[in-house]
Amino acid sequence: MRHERNGYARSALLTLILALCVMTVTGAETEQQGIGQPITVYKTATCGCCQGWVDYLETQGFRVQSHDVQNLDEIKARNGLTDGRLKSCHTAIVDGYVVEGHVPADDIRRLLAQRPEIVGITAPGMPSMSPGMNSLEPKGYDVLSFDARGNIEVFSRY
Ligand code: CU
Ligand code: CU
Repeated sequence: MRHERNGYARSALLTLILALCVMTVTGAETEQQGIGQPITVYKTATCGCCQGWVDYLETQGFRVQSHDVQNLDEIKARNGLTDGRLKSCHTAIVDGYVVEGHVPADDIRRLLAQRPEIVGITAPGMPSMSPGMNSLEPKGYDVLSFDARGNIEVFSRY
């Protein structure tokens, strides 16, 4: 009887230790994936889909600082967004990179992990099946990267 009890206590202890290990590992992983990563979003006060994207980023663990502005085009120009083919409804800055429009969180995480030599990434226009618009799962559009020399490339395809 006493023997069995000890066995039970030991296995419970082992389970606890194992659980703590797993928690530590996943904790480190989420940190790597940008949980708590500050991101600044510039948008206009009346933009519903912009607010939708802000809310989505928060559910993805980003720490969003959202600013309603009137001079959005000025902010875009200051951040290398002069080409009309790149522009969308809101402009975000994360760790020195520009993130324009309804870009999925996974692309932002990849951008921060890979740190390519670009100005930023963009989902031009208003892709209807995008987070903040009509779908949390991105469908039917491309996320582009752009650099300071005017090069535009496909970053992700959905
Ligand atoms: Cu929008
Ligand atoms: Cu927007």
